[in-house]
Amino acid sequence: MSTLIAPHGGKLVETLATDARMDQARRESEKLPRLTLSAKQSCDLEMLTIGAFSPLAGFMGAEDFERVCKEMKLATGSGKGLVWPIPIVLAVKKDQAPGVGERVALHAPNGVLQAIMTIKEEFLHDKKLEVPNVFRTEDPAHPGVKAVMDEGEVCLAGPVESVMVCVDPDGPEAFLDHRLTPRQTREEFHKRGWKTVCAFQTRNPIHRAHEYLCKVAQEICDGLLVHPLVGETKPGDIPAAVRMECYKVLLDKYFVHSRTMLSVMPAAMRYAGPREAILHAIVRKNYGCTHFIVGRDHAGVGNYYGSYDAQNIFDQIEHDPSKGGLGMTIFKFEHTAWSKLAGGMVSPKSFPKIEGDQISLSGTAVRDMLAKGERPPVEFTRPEVADVLIKWAKGGK
Ligand code: ADX
Repeated sequence: MSTLIAPHGGKLVETLATDARMDQARRESEKLPRLTLSAKQSCDLEMLTIGAFSPLAGFMGAEDFERVCKEMKLATGSGKGLVWPIPIVLAVKKDQAPGVGERVALHAPNGVLQAIMTIKEEFLHDKKLEVPNVFRTEDPAHPGVKAVMDEGEVCLAGPVESVMVCVDPDGPEAFLDHRLTPRQTREEFHKRGWKTVCAFQTRNPIHRAHEYLCKVAQEICDGLLVHPLVGETKPGDIPAAVRMECYKVLLDKYFVHSRTMLSVMPAAMRYAGPREAILHAIVRKNYGCTHFIVGRDHAGVGNYYGSYDAQNIFDQIEHDPSKGGLGMTIFKFEHTAWSKLAGGMVSPKSFPKIEGDQISLSGTAVRDMLAKGERPPVEFTRPEVADVLIKWAKGGK
């Protein structure tokens, strides 16, 4: 395993209880105050559990929160000085805060016990600090801003001891065959002999532009990890189960199986554009990836971010891993679309921009076509993917 890239901070920090502790922890939890998490918090907890948020071993305290918001760096413990762009906090309503020193049972929204947490610290959730720094806007219509504004005013910090990985293993979005932890993903890379692996983050079906970015990365790296985010997303985004079907039909026919892997990332989407791009990269490093794709308006929503803000932010962070930096290669892609004149996918870097030449469709236009049972042009999306989406849009799924 030594040949793979090191996790952020040097080692994977997983919080799943040992087999020996598991029953004991479950029994103890029955006597503890109970806290029911939001979907976003539950996703964050799963990310902590599996080591995807290494080096974090629990929800952040005040010092980390402040330094992350102001400087995009961790401030304490083994993470001190490491690049980290977004606070991972457990915010609750004042009257739910149990008290420092106490242990609490953390339950997922569906009631499943997820972890026990020891409260080491409680601090006021400074949303005035977090929101403008992380999201570059305070507009409550921004889904990530709204999520933070809806959270409680007290943050509980401390280590977690998890008793569960996927909280709904029988549900339609468990994807157990494709829900590899960072450790399992690294083992798979090792088995395949991959040393350079590019991760592709997505929260959408893979259209031709996405596919093109993946293919370019495949020309350079040993392997490609198609790594869709399947945690909480905003209303209106395409459900993860539908997307997974799209990924499978696409990969089956249009990708080289021995060079491509499909696995899911159980994180919640924050829509924080540039800062989230850094988080997405760090997490993929923890999964063992050396390269990461950041295209146009990565993790953006509406018009809150410039098309390339999520690329430019990588110029502001440390890259040397010995100084707490990222240590990955970021593949930056400009707006990509099918060019009729070129007869292929192009970007402004590879083909002159000519009025009316490119096949670009808005999300709304695509939705309208799918709802009417019409396939978007093959230059925009593969027919097999279109068919899955049409079935879903017509209520077949
Ligand atoms: S995201 O929220 O996960 O970023 P999406 O699934 O649409 O949304 O995008 C996945 C990746 O593809 C991101 O890195 C994004 O910047 C990139 N991307 C999407 N569409 C294009 C495009 N037409 N040209 C270049 N990059 C794109």
